[in-house]
Order: sequence, then C-alpha cells, then structure tokens
Amino acid sequence: MLGKLQALLRFIIGDNHLGGEKDDMGFITSLTNCSNLNFLVFGNNRFSGVLPYTIANLSTQLTHLVLQTNQISGTIPSGIENLANLSYLTMHENFFTGSIPSLLGKLQKLEVLNFRKNRLSGTIPESIGNLTRLYRFYLDGNDLQGSIPWSLGTCQRLEVLSLARNNLHGTIPKQLLYIPPLRVLLVNMNSLSGPLPLDIDGLQNLEILDVSDNKFSGEIPSTLGTCTHLESLYMQVNFFQGNISSSLSSLKGLEELDLSHNNLSGQIPRYLEEFQFLQYLNLSFNDLEADVPEHRIFQNANALSIQGNRKLCGGITKLKLPPCSKLALKKHKKALPLIGIVISGVIVVLSLFLLSYFLARYWLKKSSKKSPIISSLGERFLEATYAELLKATDGFSSANLIGVGSFGFVYKGFLDQIGLTTAIKVLKLQQQRASKSFIGECKALRSIRHRNIVKILSVCSSIDFIGNDFKALVFEYMPNGSLDTWIHPNEEQHNSTCLNFIQRLNVAIDVASALDYLHHDCEAPIVHCELKPSNVLLDEDMVAHVGDFGLARIFSKDVGNCSQAQSSSIGIKGSIGYVAPEYGMGGEVSTYGDVYSYGILLLEMFTGKRPTDDVFKDNLNLHQLARMAFPERVIEIIDQRLLLEGNVNISSNEDYNEMRSRMHECLLSLVRISISCFVEAPKERSEMRDVMLEL
Ligand SMILES: *[C@@H]1O[C@H](CO)[C@@H](O)[C@H](O)[C@H]1NC(C)=O
Ligand SMILES: *[C@@H]1O[C@H](CO)[C@@H](O)[C@H](O)[C@H]1NC(C)=O
Ligand SMILES: *[C@@H]1O[C@H](CO)[C@@H](O)[C@H](O)[C@H]1NC(C)=O
Ligand SMILES: *[C@@H]1O[C@H](CO)[C@@H](O)[C@H](O)[C@H]1NC(C)=O
Ligand SMILES: *[C@@H]1O[C@H](CO)[C@@H](O)[C@H](O)[C@H]1NC(C)=O
Repeated sequence: MLGKLQALLRFIIGDNHLGGEKDDMGFITSLTNCSNLNFLVFGNNRFSGVLPYTIANLSTQLTHLVLQTNQISGTIPSGIENLANLSYLTMHENFFTGSIPSLLGKLQKLEVLNFRKNRLSGTIPESIGNLTRLYRFYLDGNDLQGSIPWSLGTCQRLEVLSLARNNLHGTIPKQLLYIPPLRVLLVNMNSLSGPLPLDIDGLQNLEILDVSDNKFSGEIPSTLGTCTHLESLYMQVNFFQGNISSSLSSLKGLEELDLSHNNLSGQIPRYLEEFQFLQYLNLSFNDLEADVPEHRIFQNANALSIQGNRKLCGGITKLKLPPCSKLALKKHKKALPLIGIVISGVIVVLSLFLLSYFLARYWLKKSSKKSPIISSLGERFLEATYAELLKATDGFSSANLIGVGSFGFVYKGFLDQIGLTTAIKVLKLQQQRASKSFIGECKALRSIRHRNIVKILSVCSSIDFIGNDFKALVFEYMPNGSLDTWIHPNEEQHNSTCLNFIQRLNVAIDVASALDYLHHDCEAPIVHCELKPSNVLLDEDMVAHVGDFGLARIFSKDVGNCSQAQSSSIGIKGSIGYVAPEYGMGGEVSTYGDVYSYGILLLEMFTGKRPTDDVFKDNLNLHQLARMAFPERVIEIIDQRLLLEGNVNISSNEDYNEMRSRMHECLLSLVRISISCFVEAPKERSEMRDVMLEL
C-alpha cells in the first residue's frame, strides 16, 4: 500500500517495537515505487530476517538509510551501490554476515558509514579509500581479517575511525597517520603488530587513540607528542619497550593514560605530575624503575596503578613501595646492629601487610575504570558534527536564535541527518559551569525516556573551525515555546494566546507526570533542580515537556545515602523564586526540592503571578498568599483571565454558574496540593507520586 504514496519524501519509523514477524521488511519493496524518497529510517525496532534485495531498487534520491539495532541477518545485499546519493548508511548492531561489498566504494557521497557490532568477515575493501567525503567510519566488533588498507588514508575528512575488536593483522599504515581532522582512532583488540610508524605528524586534532590489546612492539614514537589535543591514550597490553618518551610531555590535556602490560623501562617521567587533567594513569606490569613522583595524580592511589614493576621505590606511603635512597640504606647497614635491622624489618613488614590489606579492600571497592561519557553516549545517540550544526542553523544565525540561557544559546535548525527540525543548545564553554552542565545533562538524559520530557536526539562534542572546543545538545523542537510565555504573554499579544483552565490543568498533570517518573521510576532517582515555567516546553498539541537538565542530579540506588551524594559540587542549585529554601541554606539536594518548585509552578500557572513579581518584595510571597487565601478567598487570587473565559460559549446564566462552581472546586484542590508542596520541612512535603494521583 505504501507504494501508492508516490510523492513520499521521508519514511521514518525508527525507535518503535515494529517487526518480529516473518517478511516484516516487505514495506521496503513497496517503497521502491516512491521515486523521491530520500530518508528511510527504521532503526531501533525488531525487524529480523534477511534484508530484501529490492533495497537496491529504492529511489536513487535516497540519502539516508538507517536500520541499526534490529535483528537483521544475511549478507549486505549487492546492488546497494546503486543508491548513488546515499550519504548516511548505518546498519550497526544487527547480525549481518559475509563480507563488506567492495562496490561500496562507488557510493562517493557517503559521509557516515556504520557497520559496528555485526558478524562481518573477510577483509576491508580497498575501495573504501574512494569515499573521500567519509567522516565517520565504524567497523568495530566484527570478525574482519587481513590488514588495514593504506587507501583509508585518502579519506582525508575522517573524524572518527573505529576498527576495534576485529581480527586485523599487519601494521598501521603510515598513510593513516596523516588525516588532520581525525579526532578518534580506535584499533584496539586486534592482532596488529610491528612498531607504530615513527612520523605521526598529521593528527593534530586527535583526542582519543586506542591501540591497546594488540602485538605492537618497538618504542613509543616521540612524534606522538605532536598530538597535543590527546585526552585519552591507551597503549596497554602490547610489547612496547624502551623509555617513556620525553616528548609526551607536550600532551598536557591528557585525562587518561594506560601503558600497562608492556615492556617499558627507565624512570617514570616527572612531567606526568604536572598534567593537571590526568584522572587515570596505569603503568602497571612493566619494567619501570627508580622513584615514583609524589604530586597530583601520584597522590591519588585510586587513580594510579603501578603494581608489577619490581624496581620502583618511593612515592606516597599508601603505595607501600620500599624507600628509595640506596646510599642511605647501605649506611644503615653499617651503623645499625643486626637486631635493630631485624626488629625494624619486622615492623615494616607487618605494617606494610596491614596497609596493603586495607588498600586492597579499598581498591577493589573503588576502582572501576570510567569510560568517557561522550563515547558511551555515542552508543545511545546519534553524534552530530560541528559542520552539520553549522549548516542546520545557517551559521548560527540570529534569525534562528530561539533562546538564551545562562549556559548558552538555543537555535532552531533542520538537521539533515535525522530529517527533523530541532532545537540546538550550544554551550558557552568559557563558563566553567557550562561544561559541567553539559556532562550533567548528558548523564541525566542518557537513560530517561518519557512522553513529558524533552527528547534528546543528538550530541556534539567537537572543535569548531578555529580550534575551540564546541559542545552542543540537540533536542526535539517544541513549536509552542515555553510555558512562561503562555502564562505571561507580552502586552501586545492577544488574550487568545492565553491558556484556558483545562489547558493549564493538562500542563500541570504533564509536568507532575514527568517529575513522578524522574523521582520514582528511573533506575536511580533524578532530581531536576531547576523546574520553572521557562523550562517547560509545549509541543504542537500543547502537551508539556520538561526540559533543561543542566543542573540535574542522579542519586545512587542506595536511598539511604540519597541526599549526601554529589550535593555540593555546583554552587547554585536552581532559580530564584523557585528554589527550595533549604538549598539556599546549604541544605542537600533531594527530590523534595523539586516538589517545592512544582508547588510554586502550580500556583504561578493558576494565579498568573510570578514568585519574583514586585508585589512579593516585602515579606509577602506567593505561597504565603496562597495560604492566606485558602480556602475561603481562593477565587480572589486566581488569574482574572480565567474568569472571563467561557463567556463566549456559554448561553445561560445557569451554565455559567455551574461552570464557575466547578472551577472553584477544582481550584480549591489545586491550591491545597500546592500548599502541601511547600511545607518548610522537606520530608513533610508531598511526594510527586501522590500529587500526580490527586491531580
Ligand atoms: C506502484 O505504483 C503503481 C501505480 O500506482 C501501482 O500500480 C503498483 O502496484 C505500485 N507498486 C508497488 C510495489 O506498490
Ligand atoms: C529492480 O527492479 C527491476 C524491475 O522490477 C529488476 O529488473 C531489477 O533486477 C531490480 N534490481 C535492481 C538492482 O535494479
Ligand atoms: C576507486 O577509484 C579508482 C581510481 O581512483 C578506480 O580505479 C576504482 O575503480 C575505484 N573503485 C571503485 C570501487 O569505485
Ligand atoms: C623486554 O625488553 C628487554 C630489553 O629492554 C628485552 O631483552 C626483552 O626480551 C623484552 N621482553 C619482551 C617480552 O619483549
Ligand atoms: C591497570 O592495568 C592492569 C593491566 O592492564 C589492569 O589489570 C588493572 O585493572 C588496571 N588498573 C586499574 C585501576 O584499572
């Protein structure tokens, strides 16, 4: 039947539970009739079986073919190279077998190609080198053999290349190490061997390099020091030998460095104690010698691994290494009587034993290597690039600016990659808090999905064209803007833009339902921390979606410890007028703080007054007003526009009175609920679950 829709441009059914039956991809055949089709998106469903060969008969207008995360098996159909305009092809996380068709090299317009986590075998075709526009290429997690074709070096726009977790042999071709835009290069867990090429001089933008779990040998090339943007360098489990090159001292932005399980010798370089961003350093199981430095990373026994180097000494006492000065030891031997040595020896051994016991216990508990947040996000979200966002927003033009917040700007833009109009939040990174907020928001949004929570579509962590850090979040676009502008329309806007009683009630329920989900239904409770009308957005059907998770906190499952988690890492925890009083007094962040803000929001919606209005300057505030008016004079504090409503449609006085009395009844409940939300003592406030039920 779909074949009758001959003018169809985009067919997007991703993120559902479709499929699971026989021949469930038959729709592809009917879509071959749609001669203008340019997007075919059915990723994240349950489609299974073999991909119909008719896929090759789809319109040559097709630019996006997205079918990742299904259960599709069989080979990649030949003929796919006929789709000459394809720029975006993602088939990852399926069960594809067979080899990568070498004719794929004909798809000259390909920009993103993702085959990761399938069961592909054979070699990587050399013709991939013809894909000169490719900037993201993922083949990791397959069973590919042979060597890495040097022709990949002609893909001069590559930003991400992942060949990890295959069965590749041979060396890394020199050509691969001259790709200026490359940010991420992963070849870990293969059987690659030989030395790394000596002249790595064209990877100035590299942020992550992972060559671990291979059979590389030789020295660490000193030219690695030219990759000054490196944040993560993983070289563990290889046969690297020699000294740790002094030229690595220029990698001042390193956050994670793992050189463990190699054959490195010489001293631990001093410059490592000057790397201020280093959070993880693993030098264990090498042949390093002499003294361990004592500053920065070397003070943090949890972030540092040096075991399995028999010739190391010194360092902080926690490391339980022997002291260093050999000269001093020799002198002692002469000066001290034998008994003294024995006794002090016993004491040292005993205390070392005890110390190591506790250390080991502590270590086992604490040490869990954190994976970079962004790369794990990549699994969940589509990653967008700076160039794509630049294009989508018409160069971040002011015509597309739809919001300005404390952490940056929000633009409207059509993102080709997903074929949707989106809201793109670009973070001001000059502000230290913005970067924290980005990570906070990513963490919070990574795991949540709810009808009343703004959906994140994509993230971008990159560098702009002049080399500055650039971070952005891409959300679904909410055409009706924020609740704030609906409760407080501008002077010039008509009364018709004002929300009616039922609409307000629906919004109240939507927001309560989002909070109820965050507090009670997530893996760990999430506290939003910045609930206010400008963070509640309305879609085209006036359904409310809670947004802006920049300050959100996730608590550990251990509810007893809930509030003591990361509570004070960010100074300000909310917006004036909405923030719970205990936060201002250094109190801990908890779900009850959100309940307070919700109470204020509810009152604001039905009174039409902001908690920050001038009226509320001296002592009086919005919630006192509510308490004073409840219950007899509630009708006096209601938004006057609501009372005018209905005049239009109501014919008789009787109906009017009937409506008034029902509204009054409703209003009483609403005010009562809001009062129960801002009780002074946090734990005596209502839970969102109860609020939700009452509403
Ligand atoms: C394609 O369109 C023609 C004309 O509308 C129709 O007769 C035919 O059945 C369609 N084919 C498919 C596969 O839907
Ligand atoms: C596409 O359809 C035509 C006619 O229906 C058929 O002859 C051809 O083999 C199909 N496949 C390709 C790759 O064109
Ligand atoms: C790739 O390009 C070369 C020449 O640039 C050409 O000989 C070869 O046929 C092309 N391969 C494919 C698969 O298009
Ligand atoms: C480690 O390096 C030493 C020389 O520094 C060499 O003699 C030894 O064979 C190497 N071991 C391995 C397993 O490569
Ligand atoms: C350091 O590396 C070794 C060997 O690769 C590994 O066993 C150990 O767990 C690592 N240490 C930490 C703290 O991750």
